[in-house]
Amino acid sequence: MNNSIWRRKPMEAFEADMQKSELKRVLGKWSLTAIGIGAIIGGGVFVLTGTAAHFHAGPALAISFIIAGLGCIFAALCYAEFAAMLPVEGSAYAYAYGTVGEIFAWIIGWGLILEYAMGAMTVAVSWSGYFTKLLKLFHIDIPYYLRNDPVSAKEYAMANGLAAPEWAVNLPALVSVWFVTWILVKGIKEAASANNLIVILKVAVILFVIIVGVFYVNVQNWTPFIPEQTMIMHDSGVEQPAYGWGGIISGASAIFFAYIGFDAVSTQAGEAINPKKDMPFAIIASLLICTILYIAVSLVLTGMMNYKDIVGDALKAPVAYAFDAAGQPWAVFVITAAATAGLLSVMLVMMLGQTRVFLGMAKDGLLPKFFSEIHPTFKTPWKSTILVGAIVSIVSGLTPISLLGDMTSFGTLFAFTMVCLAVWLLRFKDPERARPFKAPIINLVAPLGIVVNSFLIYNLGDEAKKFAIYWLIFGLVVYFIYGKPNSKLNK
Ligand code: ALA
Repeated sequence: MNNSIWRRKPMEAFEADMQKSELKRVLGKWSLTAIGIGAIIGGGVFVLTGTAAHFHAGPALAISFIIAGLGCIFAALCYAEFAAMLPVEGSAYAYAYGTVGEIFAWIIGWGLILEYAMGAMTVAVSWSGYFTKLLKLFHIDIPYYLRNDPVSAKEYAMANGLAAPEWAVNLPALVSVWFVTWILVKGIKEAASANNLIVILKVAVILFVIIVGVFYVNVQNWTPFIPEQTMIMHDSGVEQPAYGWGGIISGASAIFFAYIGFDAVSTQAGEAINPKKDMPFAIIASLLICTILYIAVSLVLTGMMNYKDIVGDALKAPVAYAFDAAGQPWAVFVITAAATAGLLSVMLVMMLGQTRVFLGMAKDGLLPKFFSEIHPTFKTPWKSTILVGAIVSIVSGLTPISLLGDMTSFGTLFAFTMVCLAVWLLRFKDPERARPFKAPIINLVAPLGIVVNSFLIYNLGDEAKKFAIYWLIFGLVVYFIYGKPNSKLNK
């Protein structure tokens, strides 16, 4: 086997892996779609909509959702082509390994760590916001230094004229991650049926927000729909331009997070009854359904509550607060309870995705065996799950959500860009390969996917971009020191 960074994992190796797999093929196209929707609807729509409206786009948030959705649909078409061509577990990492080459696969896998692990952290912090709100409905108040990371706690103290706390930790976020970790270590059979229920609940509550919320829309909140561009002060004390078309674009980057998850469908190939046909269907259907729901929710939210008023605690649970402002406490209860349950399922899918990508990389020799060790009774990659849980819980207890959200988006946008590039390249390199699903007008869709997704990366916060680039460089170092010399393809 050659020693190039472009070596590919042979088809037979994938087939052998799949045969060894004990997974049952039980998922049809609508179950797969439900998995996609389950992973997509979460912290993004329930939390980041507030931040994006207040700090970036104002009522034009709906346009931000359209732009981000567009970037996703190009990526989704390319993902679908990949998923049908190589219906194996492991998502984009595996596709790239089988088609474009090891270095591509590694970089995508490394980027997916940002997506899944950081995504789980972001969702944990979002969950904490809704959980705190839920407790409040029962008149239970967690002290602010036990429900905020140190940076946010200091800001909270300052804003409320309190002395800065000596320490602070977002305890609900931290504990929720351990709860999910425990479920994942024990196995997910029970969790899967609970997931279906939660998906129904989530979609129901989003429809509820749209249908009931419409009656509380004050059209004055929509005027002007695109507020004039200006400079505004962020929580961190940094002044940045907001609103206008610039704000719409930066808003699209900020809420991009809400779309993440349709690609999680591609990690379920091993369980799909007819992966070649149903995976493309589920990837595209789940994305389209959520795009429509999101545009409607953002219109309702910015209509119910003036974007300028989404501040303080409302930033943490804006959808619930909008109903609070409308004087509908019962609706607040319904939304808060559903969001609290719904966010747990997103966390579950993200952490599951993370351990599966690690598992795939470790099976291929690119990561140490630690990541592929399976528990004798539970049959789960327990060591890696606990490690991921430990890191996710600590970081989510101590880091502000905006940075986490941006880092997650970076990892995902990066993976999407690479997927578009890989699918496009492969059309030239290997035109004869059987493609059960072909992305239409690839010479337009792939480059547009690359451009829109790269542009959204460019518009992410500077700090997140800096960290993410260090992360990718670190990844390349690990690849050359560990991954490449240990790759199974050396043998
Ligand atoms: N799209 C998922 C969410 O919004 C990650 O929580």
